[in-house]
Amino acid sequence: MKNLKNYLEKYDNPRILDIGSGKGDFIKLIDYIFQDYQEIIGIDIVDYLLEMDESAFNHNPKIKWMGKEVLDTNFPKNSFDIISLSNTLHHIKDIKSMLEQMVYMLKPNGMIIVNELMAAEDLSDKEISHQLLHSFAAKIDHEIGMLHSQVFSKENIIQAIEMFSPWPIVDYWKLETKTFDKEITIDDLYQLIDGLLLNVKDHDKYSLYKEEAESLKAYLKENGFSFAHQLCLVLKKS
Ligand SMILES: C[S@@+](CC[C@H](N)C(=O)[O-])C[C@H]1O[C@@H](n2cnc3c(N)ncnc32)[C@H](O)[C@@H]1O
Repeated sequence: MKNLKNYLEKYDNPRILDIGSGKGDFIKLIDYIFQDYQEIIGIDIVDYLLEMDESAFNHNPKIKWMGKEVLDTNFPKNSFDIISLSNTLHHIKDIKSMLEQMVYMLKPNGMIIVNELMAAEDLSDKEISHQLLHSFAAKIDHEIGMLHSQVFSKENIIQAIEMFSPWPIVDYWKLETKTFDKEITIDDLYQLIDGLLLNVKDHDKYSLYKEEAESLKAYLKENGFSFAHQLCLVLKKS
């Protein structure tokens, strides 16, 4: 996280936009390592605020939340010093338009941070839990018609960004991750799996998904859980 902190500290009181915030995990990470920001605005097509632990951000008036599709944002040109996109690239259909929109909203000398879970072969048993969980979530989302690809390789992430970014990638590294509010328990993960299953309860393949969910739970119980590898990369607007 030291690398990320160093990059964030290059900005004086920055205004930050976090795209695809989900329940705000990347915002929590930023806030944990760097507090000298003017504000962080989180946007997501799904309004997660109601689902979130109410106390998660309420204490901090500098963190704001908007339910928005990234392409429908009407922030003026040059609105943000930093724009982050964490674990969201593999949810995006039109990466080119999204990057164009990010470039438009970014101030000159601004920075884009892309952080993305990556497929890796040297995972520990605990980290494999994360990858299996993600794979299950992606299948369920696909079943209900939501775009959610399987995890990209490091090369695919870099390629996707290089293909559409007007600027070169200035740096990338493997991001170490942890949770910042409370430890994730096996019960939290079971609840997550049960929630995913509910989405397909009326589908033909429900019994197959239920079986997969049970073996996933058994794996998690036996091996525990740890975040898998994430690739963090930085682009700078010249
Ligand atoms: C896996 S979550 C990432 C959550 C968090 N950023 C993190 O790093 O853990 C991906 C999020 O992207 C959101 N998303 C997908 N497409 C989007 C879009 N076009 N505009 C805004 N949010 C989007 C999804 O609703 C989902 O909450």
